[in-house]
Amino acid sequence: MKRFAYLLTILALLVSACGGDKNNAESVKEKYKKKAPKSVAEMEKDYQKYEGIGPISSFEMPAEIDQGLVDQGKVIFEAKCTACHKITKKFIGPSPANILDRRTPSWVMNMILNPDEMTQKDPLAKQLLIEYNGSPMANQNLTEDEARAVLEYFRTLK
Ligand code: HEC
Repeated sequence: MKRFAYLLTILALLVSACGGDKNNAESVKEKYKKKAPKSVAEMEKDYQKYEGIGPISSFEMPAEIDQGLVDQGKVIFEAKCTACHKITKKFIGPSPANILDRRTPSWVMNMILNPDEMTQKDPLAKQLLIEYNGSPMANQNLTEDEARAVLEYFRTLK
């Protein structure tokens, strides 16, 4: 009888050990799921929550397009950005057409002004760099006014 009780105890221990392992495997799986980065496409669904990291904090775009700024932005874009960005299609970097349907204005300006820190720390920019196979967005040393003009130009690209 004593021996039987002994066996039962071992059995109970074994069962609980196995159960424990199973739970462990589940929680590792859960953790992995939480840690796996979301794709850019997934993050774009909540793009409003990404303001980016850098000198620009959230700002409201005026409703009216400022044509003077658009013209300045176009000149800057053609001089400093078209080596990697085409407005009609994906090139070395993404096309900026309709960018404000998937990014906030402040995120776009921070990406232009502070790409190194953005691609290291901002979740969306980090994932974008991965999806562009590690080819980084270049810092072209624009001033805030120049970046703002480029943003105004982007508003007109559909
Ligand atoms: C040497 C190539 C290169 C140059 C020059 C360059 N970019 Fe980029 N840019 C990239 C790449 C590659 C990405 C995507 C990968 C990443 O973000 O690291 C990108 C991403 C971006 C993004 C984010 C796009 C999106 O869909 O989220 C913006 C905005 C941008 N660039 C604007 C500009 C502007 C404005 C200029 C000119 C002042 C410029 N870039 C010059 C390579 C470049």
